[in-house]
Amino acid sequence: MIPVNEPLLGERELEYVTECIRTGWISSAGRFIEEFEEKWAAYCGMKYGIAVSNGTTALQVAVGCIGLDPGNEVIMPTFTIISCVLAVTYNGGVPVLVDCDPRTWCMDVTQVEAKITPRTRAIMPVHIYGHPVDMDPVLMLAEKHGLVVIEDAAEVHGAEYLSGRDGPRPVWKRCGGLGHISAFSFYANKLITTGEGGMVLTNDPNYAEKARSLRNLCFRPERRFFHTELGHNFRLTNLQAALGVAQIERMDEIVARKRWMGQAYTERLGDITCLQLPVEEPWARHVYWMYGVVLDESTGMDAAEFANRLRAYGVEARPFFLGMHEQPVFHERGLFVGEHYPVAERIARQGLYLPSGLALTEAQLAQVCAAVREALA
Ligand SMILES: Cc1ncc(COP(=O)(O)O)c(C=O)c1O
Repeated sequence: MIPVNEPLLGERELEYVTECIRTGWISSAGRFIEEFEEKWAAYCGMKYGIAVSNGTTALQVAVGCIGLDPGNEVIMPTFTIISCVLAVTYNGGVPVLVDCDPRTWCMDVTQVEAKITPRTRAIMPVHIYGHPVDMDPVLMLAEKHGLVVIEDAAEVHGAEYLSGRDGPRPVWKRCGGLGHISAFSFYANKLITTGEGGMVLTNDPNYAEKARSLRNLCFRPERRFFHTELGHNFRLTNLQAALGVAQIERMDEIVARKRWMGQAYTERLGDITCLQLPVEEPWARHVYWMYGVVLDESTGMDAAEFANRLRAYGVEARPFFLGMHEQPVFHERGLFVGEHYPVAERIARQGLYLPSGLALTEAQLAQVCAAVREALA
């Protein structure tokens, strides 16, 4: 079975983790934590990095930084992982949804303004499967309405966005360095992995201080074990950060490998008319975190059946996200009841992603493409 993802770890990871074990720095202090924070922030073009335990807690801390009042709203796409909604509800806020763009599957930025109310505090664009959200319109709306932009960059390590393309000086910027605060995941299937792990990035020293405090139980600097706010233990370990530092060193190679994989799939599958393949907008540099495909409804087959057929050919595939408005757990709580987002609903039914890991070989990729053709025949 060709797995949907397999991490690719090397000698450098082994060397750095061994150093942690030899020196005894295995908990949440040690040289690799700060190095990981500084290097990842610099790579993404942000000033401050705050390493946390995973991408879900990174989002929770990011929203925690802006201090929501009960009932404050945060606008996000329905087509995302539950972590985005949880980050808002656990902070006492209300998530508000928009549909996604049928080409990029990212948040449809043209739907955001209609959802802004006097209670809106933030917009949370989520870059999907390696392709950036069209951020300029989001940032313009945020400025116009005084909102904070919290980027969920869990799936786009190294992806780039052409910022200011309608102005005199367009400039390529890395995702996770575009909003006011961003959140990354370093789960095992991500471009950089620390096993479990996450990071909050920001240029704002106040958000950075707040994020550090929230991550570590809100200890007060003047007196340990004295608290004026509620915090969490969301700390990352030095052992995990050691893995991250080793991988940042070969980030260019990792991005190049993913772009090769995405382009190779597109070349081999491009003639199959009943499959929608990932696009790369002219203002985007895709990193193909996962190579997603959407099956045309005219085939009479949905993604679940397509995945079963692929499995029979030895290929593992995963279904797309199921929109937040289709989740019973939220309906029971009175959220998103009766809401419909047709693009997200269609791609949730018809979309899946193919094996996309860094360890995927050219021969395996060819085998996956052959299996796709057989499964559709
Ligand atoms: C868009 C997005 N946000 C957040 C997360 C949560 O990250 P984690 O699994 O590290 O908690 C993920 C996880 O894959 C994700 O895809």
